[in-house]
Amino acid sequence: MDSKIINQLKKKYEAIDQDTDMYLEGLLHSKPINYWDYIQTDALLNLQVQRTVFPDENVFIMYHQISELLFKMVLSEMAQIANCSQIDVNTFTVKVLRISRYFDVLTSSFSIMKEGMDVGQYNKFRTTLTPASGFQSAQYRKIEFASTELNNLIDKRFRANFDSNSTPEFSFEHLYWQAAGKDYKTGKKTYTLSAFEERYKDEFLRFIKAYKHNNLWSKFKGLKQEDQKSTDLINAMRHYDYTVNIKWVMAHYETANHYLKINGKSAEATGGSEWVKYMHPKYQKRIFFPDLWSEKEKEAWGTSI
Ligand code: HEM
Repeated sequence: MDSKIINQLKKKYEAIDQDTDMYLEGLLHSKPINYWDYIQTDALLNLQVQRTVFPDENVFIMYHQISELLFKMVLSEMAQIANCSQIDVNTFTVKVLRISRYFDVLTSSFSIMKEGMDVGQYNKFRTTLTPASGFQSAQYRKIEFASTELNNLIDKRFRANFDSNSTPEFSFEHLYWQAAGKDYKTGKKTYTLSAFEERYKDEFLRFIKAYKHNNLWSKFKGLKQEDQKSTDLINAMRHYDYTVNIKWVMAHYETANHYLKINGKSAEATGGSEWVKYMHPKYQKRIFFPDLWSEKEKEAWGTSI
């Protein structure tokens, strides 16, 4: 065996007061790794627990799980950008393009949801899911917090009253998605929202604080002036913004229409929101990187689709 590797191993283990021979003996007894052990296929393929006997419920569960895995990949890239104290423009661009590709996949694959289930089956198994909703996807919310400053996620009706001095706690109560979780007549929070907050609010506030200066938009604005003019980076950022906030949102909205619009009437969603209005991008006008769009483009946000 190459003595260079042995010496490197010795150095590694001596640094932590460990006996190298013991580790080498461990190698002698350990099993070779298999694909199924490494990828954890047995665990993965047992994570689909249906609440009904309808076979298409499995499509619904699995596609949500696939989405959550892709969300995790997005968050991993975002954490790498956040943890880089002086990111260079090329690394930034490469990572934003990676994030964008994950969302391209999420958008184009939404047809698996839209065309992949029998409408009759869906409308039966979904009744067993009330009051759960994709609205309660914590990773989706984290992606938004890690993408932009909190002000850009405030409900459009109140956005002008918020700036970087507003406390995260106060801003949190005015995030755009609070609108979907409140009884619009009484203002009372729905169970879907209260349960979500009970489970995640503290974690979200910690996350928001950690990303206050480390979200994609703040990091972009922290680049040198000349780097902020990079056409490649600007195009990558615009592509990501548009894909998440218009294309993915519209694919989702059209899927909801496909299953929940019955005989021209909109059925109540499991999360209980006024979804027809709420889910459309022209209503929320969520834009992560507002300065990268012209006033005309912002005005028309979500209307041209
Ligand atoms: C048949 C498929 C689907 C339908 C009919 C549907 C429907 C809805 C509706 C009506 C809402 C609004 C909240 C509510 O009242 O429940 C919502 C929110 C949400 N759903 Fe879905 N959805 C579907 C698939 C998915 C998938 C695959 C994901 C991926 C994780 C997802 C993630 C979300 C997220 C993140 C929200 C919150 C969006 C926001 O606040 O703007 N949904 N969904």
